[in-house]
Amino acid sequence: MYTELIDLTTISEEEREQAMDRAGEIIRAGGLVAFPTETVYGLGADGMNPDASARIYEAKGRPSDNPLIMHIVDTAQVEEIAAEVSPDAGKIMDAFWPGPLTVILPRKRTVPSTTTGGLDTVAIRMPSHPDARDFIRRSGRIIAAPSANISGRPSPTRAGHVYEDMKGRIPMILDGGPVGIGIESTIVDMTGDHPTILRPGYISLEEITDLAGEAEIDPAIAGRTPAKDLVAKAPGMKYRHYAPKGQMILVEGETSQVVRKINELTALRQAEGFTVGIIGTEETLSLYPEGIAKSVGSREQPQTIAANLYRVLREMDASGADYIYAESFFDEKLGDAIMNRMLKAAGYRVISCRR
Ligand code: TXA
Ligand code: MG
Repeated sequence: MYTELIDLTTISEEEREQAMDRAGEIIRAGGLVAFPTETVYGLGADGMNPDASARIYEAKGRPSDNPLIMHIVDTAQVEEIAAEVSPDAGKIMDAFWPGPLTVILPRKRTVPSTTTGGLDTVAIRMPSHPDARDFIRRSGRIIAAPSANISGRPSPTRAGHVYEDMKGRIPMILDGGPVGIGIESTIVDMTGDHPTILRPGYISLEEITDLAGEAEIDPAIAGRTPAKDLVAKAPGMKYRHYAPKGQMILVEGETSQVVRKINELTALRQAEGFTVGIIGTEETLSLYPEGIAKSVGSREQPQTIAANLYRVLREMDASGADYIYAESFFDEKLGDAIMNRMLKAAGYRVISCRR
């Protein structure tokens, strides 16, 4: 299959109209279109068409019990797919939509089980990215969309990442440039007696607690090690997510000690003949051997770390590193969201320099 890559950032208004028309046609015919959102790129299909959502699983190589998020542009669309919206759920949607937040609500039976993975709930998100909104609105459909990566790879934060993974598998990619946030939406389950965060993201526990009075993070995913006796409520969180080909190890503690430890380990592995990659920050990059370290962002601005993380993980893989030593960000703002991804990528291997 030929994959058309359309650069929305450079084409004329008229070419954009034509491209959006074609994207809508593909969706209404049951096909797939990748599109930018403010979090990560999505792989969209008509969420109410079971054959279309089945194509998503096929293109991604994704297990079919892992449900998809339904993307809307208008709050009126919620009642097409949700059986019930509690007052708290309404408040949360009002406060954070459009934006990087997904709510879990009881589903209507009209939502195909291929989309919901057989669950009796549905995940709904209203993105804020103008290209995403334009695409969804003009398709005239509710768009089921997972992140547009091959299952097991980091989510795509630019169209080039989508192209790497989806070339030949889908007919169209809309390129809206690099995304702003860079990690997937906060997922909050609104079907219990208080909101439960099933996947941490840009919208924090504090922000949700402020609104609802009480909220928690799913205990199965809250810790620094996988909870042994608990099953994550979001089916996708139980899968071993992105693991680089090399062994990734997080180092935590006071920054100067972390840098020393990473340099020590690097020298050791290099002496053994291994290729090493280092994930550092703007503040520490000059303290590591040149050429093998990459900056993931600035500790002063943790949102830059979220924005660059998946790109840097892809680059580490491309560099062929056997060992990847990474600084960690447990205490920074967005720490829950960033470390949730980094811990998974590292298979929960953490070396602590605290004593
Ligand atoms: O930011 C995002 O949310 C991106 C963009 C494209 O919108 N989408 C995304 O989708 O990250 P995906 O498929 O990669 O992750 C969806 C997660 C999975 O962990 C899935 O198990 C969970 O949402 N999920 C979907 N429906 C659910 C439901 N009814 N109950 C619990 N978890 C659900
Ligand atoms: Mg994903």
